[in-house]
Amino acid sequence: MTEVLNDRAAWLKSGAAKCSKPPAVKGPPRRYILLGPPGAGKGTQAELLAARIGGCQLSTGDVFRAAKNTGAASQSPAVRTALEAMAKGELVQDETVLEMIRERLRCLHCGGGILLDGFPRTVAQAEALTALLRQQKIKLDGVLNYELPLATIVARLGGRRICQTCKAVYHVENQPPATPEVCDKCGGDVIQRDDDQPEAIRVRMEAYERSTLPLTEYYRKQGLLRTISAAGSPEEVHHRTLTVLAQA
Ligand code: AP5
Repeated sequence: MTEVLNDRAAWLKSGAAKCSKPPAVKGPPRRYILLGPPGAGKGTQAELLAARIGGCQLSTGDVFRAAKNTGAASQSPAVRTALEAMAKGELVQDETVLEMIRERLRCLHCGGGILLDGFPRTVAQAEALTALLRQQKIKLDGVLNYELPLATIVARLGGRRICQTCKAVYHVENQPPATPEVCDKCGGDVIQRDDDQPEAIRVRMEAYERSTLPLTEYYRKQGLLRTISAAGSPEEVHHRTLTVLAQA
């Protein structure tokens, strides 16, 4: 079993939680947003990039899924509403997401760099992030925009499995765990996400096209957008990403 390098506790739990290990520092911290439709492979690429160039994967979806595991009794009404929206494939309200980000401001300053995965997702969130980064004197290095045809997206999401504990991502055909339903990295249970059912996938794609796609224009105007094809194996997409970063 591979050792878990960083449990991202500060991000997933917030409050006074500390990460199990400080992030690996590989030169000056780099800060990217990973953009793209559900299932394009943002989480997979974030893991590969974190290992290669450093940076903590700050996934807003992972925060909500971690909150789900704490049980209904300890969830605030806002979190319960967020989880209901998420299970249906709808976006969580901007104010709830932004509150969650404000509670985790110290993660934006992570010395190892950051890979924002799944945030921002609406123009209102992007505007709020721009203001927050300016206020915190944090500079973004770029926005990696992954593109993939719909048929491939559906195949990737239908076969996806995730570790309930460390959130590692698997695929039943392309990337199964060595032991069925057991995480290679931490031994946790490997499960299917609620929102990877066909109806929720359809709703998520609509939400992406309506609310998130306009962000490409927002970041193109700022000169930050780098569009990358997400077709091919995870390693191929990773190499394509490194090539794009080297040219930036
Ligand atoms: P979130 O968790 O962010 O999900 P998502 O954006 O829908 O993205 P996914 O995690 O589904 O896909 P991914 O691109 O990371 O792909 P992955 O690497 O896993 O959000 C979930 C929900 O939370 C939202 O619907 C919303 O309700 C809520 N939410 C979160 N943030 C929010 C926000 N900011 N505002 C409002 N609401 C918010 O890969 C997919 C599968 O494909 C895996 O099985 C993987 O193994 C496989 N795979 C990956 N790459 C390849 C490859 N190159 N070749 C073959 N297989 C591959």
